[in-house]
Amino acid sequence: MELIDGKAVAARVLEECRVQIEELTAAGKRPGLAVVLVGDDPASRAYVRNKERTCAQLGLHSLKLELPATTPQKELLDVVRSLNEDPAIHGILVQSPLPDHIDEAAIVRSIDPAKDVDGFHPENVAKLALEDPGGFVPCTPLGCQRLLGEYGIETKGANVVIVGRSMIVGKPMALLLMAKGPLGDATVTVAHSRTKDLATVCHGADILIAAVGRPHFLGSDHVREGAVVIDVGVNRVDDATAKRGYRLVGDVDFDAVADRCRAITPVPGGVGPMTIAMLMSNTIKACRQTDR
Ligand code: GUN
Repeated sequence: MELIDGKAVAARVLEECRVQIEELTAAGKRPGLAVVLVGDDPASRAYVRNKERTCAQLGLHSLKLELPATTPQKELLDVVRSLNEDPAIHGILVQSPLPDHIDEAAIVRSIDPAKDVDGFHPENVAKLALEDPGGFVPCTPLGCQRLLGEYGIETKGANVVIVGRSMIVGKPMALLLMAKGPLGDATVTVAHSRTKDLATVCHGADILIAAVGRPHFLGSDHVREGAVVIDVGVNRVDDATAKRGYRLVGDVDFDAVADRCRAITPVPGGVGPMTIAMLMSNTIKACRQTDR
């Protein structure tokens, strides 16, 4: 079994980003990222803190906007509008989930597609489906694909089973891996909570990608000998022995399946660090693609 070290790959990607940011900054065009956080969901806070820290390490201009959970939708739309017009900002990320009174789809549609480094805007979703390389691809699936590439895991002709059909991970992951070309050309099955006989479906996977958001949802019944497992889950489970009172576990029961895998990502230290690295990379792309 090979452990897929997302932390190490992310460090390499971030180093490439740092050099590119340095060059762009020297040329008078420093990439800028705005992160908007509404409310105080603890997991979202942790993600946003992490993004800010990474921006600082890389020399990327970053703007963090923290708004109360009671922020009216109109106010949030105004915030996005002003970021759309800000020439120092090339990427805009509105942290999901948003409070219930806010229409998340309306917020996403209000982001300038050229600054939509999350790749959630309908225009970018369409570009991904159309295999137009000029669009933005959501960071987590992009990070998973990069991990497969870095570890020389062939996707061409491979049976990939993705468990989870979210707009953030499952759907874009499927589009990426079924696209024509290197790191694509896979035969993709998307399974989800209503899938009949999930274990049998998963057993057909050369590459199994878990993105359901349920701790240890997939176990030894779901993983065949020699499969590659990419675990996107980041679930907090109570643990009285842990410093914070919880620990992070994936959607896959790592201990139960690791021995039979050809390669597997750990949680933490697998997909997680790649998501932020790809966000930085998308922000650089956004900066390069604009003349401001
Ligand atoms: N919440 C969890 N993952 C993401 C992400 O990739 N982008 C945004 N905006 N919110 C998230």
